[in-house]
Parts: sequence; structure tokens; C-alpha cells
Amino acid sequence: MTDKSFFEVVETRRNIRRYKPDPIPDGHIEKILDAARYAQSGANGQSWEFVVVKNAQLRSKLAQILAEERTEFGTPIEMSRVPEMRHLGSTRGAYGGHIGIKIAPATIIVLGDPRTFQATVLCANYLSGEWDHFHMNIGNCTQIITLAACALGLQGQWVTTFRTAETKMKQLLGIPDIYRIYVVVPIGYPDYDSPPPYRRPLTEIVHYDKFDMSKYRTSEQVQDWIKELRQRTTPHYHVRREPA
Ligand SMILES: Cc1cc2nc3c(=O)[nH]c(=O)nc-3n(C[C@H](O)[C@H](O)[C@H](O)COP(=O)(O)O)c2cc1C
Repeated sequence: MTDKSFFEVVETRRNIRRYKPDPIPDGHIEKILDAARYAQSGANGQSWEFVVVKNAQLRSKLAQILAEERTEFGTPIEMSRVPEMRHLGSTRGAYGGHIGIKIAPATIIVLGDPRTFQATVLCANYLSGEWDHFHMNIGNCTQIITLAACALGLQGQWVTTFRTAETKMKQLLGIPDIYRIYVVVPIGYPDYDSPPPYRRPLTEIVHYDKFDMSKYRTSEQVQDWIKELRQRTTPHYHVRREPA
């Protein structure tokens, strides 16, 4: 257990893609998930449940399912962009984006139960975008998972999953079809040091009282910024460039 303040946790949390196989101390995963259930959710609908996968064979299979999904579906889509905007997480050869799941001692499957939409005030389902609250609920609890892991001296990886892998994951883990899986989170001890994360400066993103149009970015400026972002972040994208 570490002794980090809230702000230290926020600033030292990193999305980690390669882990040591070192075991997680007993009770830590439960502590992380106990924190996650305190996440805010629309009308307290608590759309989440969790499957904790510790079994090495299952983790390996999960990593394979997700790597295949990226290679088969993610790569062709990503390769259709202008090269300067491509993300290494879905370009050819970046299979290792999911190697974390294979090596980290535990992976948390964040389940979303869509039936919980009935808890949310009805107008949110009609007047917001489709399933907005449901997705925000899942995002909120996932964020707490990664922060709680960091508070305990561990780290996690936010691994997005798509429909193309969802059925296979449900079959592998015996998860009833009604649940949705948008994200899975390997947890463990990092196998490398991450540099401080890049973030846009506060002065660029905060507006007081009214939107400050001098800070408005045109679409072209946003696209140029994404290209610059790729140059900054790609060298730190820790993946193994071979099939997981
Ligand atoms: C909605 C969302 C989807 C993400 N998907 C992935 C993913 O599929 N694979 C991955 O390695 N990281 C994923 N991430 C993590 C981001 O890449 C990461 O947070 C970002 O690069 C900033 O790095 P940091 O978290 O270390 O500060 C995702 C994060 C969010 C919030």
C-alpha cells in the first residue's frame, strides 16, 4: 500500500502496456473494485459488474482474442487514415498492445448491464444521445479502477474492446449475452518507466465565464495537433511487435 494523496494518484497514474509477472498482494483487487463501486452513475443505476480473470490460460486467450480483433478489423481501418494521424495501437505489427493482459497477474473485465438504463431518469434516454448515461457510468467506474490501482502502487491499462471480440470473450468466460463489454483492464506492476504524460496546458483549455474565442481551434488546427500528438506519444507506446 502506498501513501499517495489524491493529486499524486491522479498525476502518477499511467496507462501501462507491459507488466512484470509479479503477483498482486491479496485483497488489492477487491480493494480496487470496492472503490470502483463508489463511482457516480446516472440515478445511481450502477451499471457495472466485474469478472476478475487471474487464470493464465484464460488471460492468454483473452490477449489473443483482442490482438486478433485489432489485426483483423482495427488495422485495416486505421491504415485508411493519413499516415501522420495513424495510432500505433491499431497499425500493422502492433499486436503487443494486448500483451499486458497475458503477463499482468489479473485482468478486470468491466461488464455493463444495459438493463440498468431503467434506473436513469427517462428523459436522459430520450433526450441525450443513445445510451449516453450507460457509457458514462462504465467510463466512470473504469477510471476509478485505474486510479485505485495506482493508489495501491499498481497500474492498469484501459483496453478498449469492440463488438468483434465481445462474443468470443463472453463465450470464453461464460458471460451471459445481455452484458456489454467495452473495456478490460489488466492490473499489475509496470515493466518500464513512463515519462510524465503529455497534456494540453491549462491556459489553453480553460475558459472563464464565457468561451474565449482566442482559444478556439479550427478543424485544421485540431488535425495538426493530432499529428503533433502522435509524434509525441508514439515513441512511448510500449508494445511488442509480434503476435501476442
Ligand atoms: C476511452 C478510452 C479508450 C482507450 N483505449 C485504449 C486502448 O484500447 N489501448 C490502450 O493501450 N490504451 C487505451 N486507452 C488509454 C489511453 O491511450 C491513455 O489514457 C492515453 O494515451 C494517455 O496516457 P496516460 O493514461 O498514461 O496518461 C484508452 C483510454 C480511454 C479513456
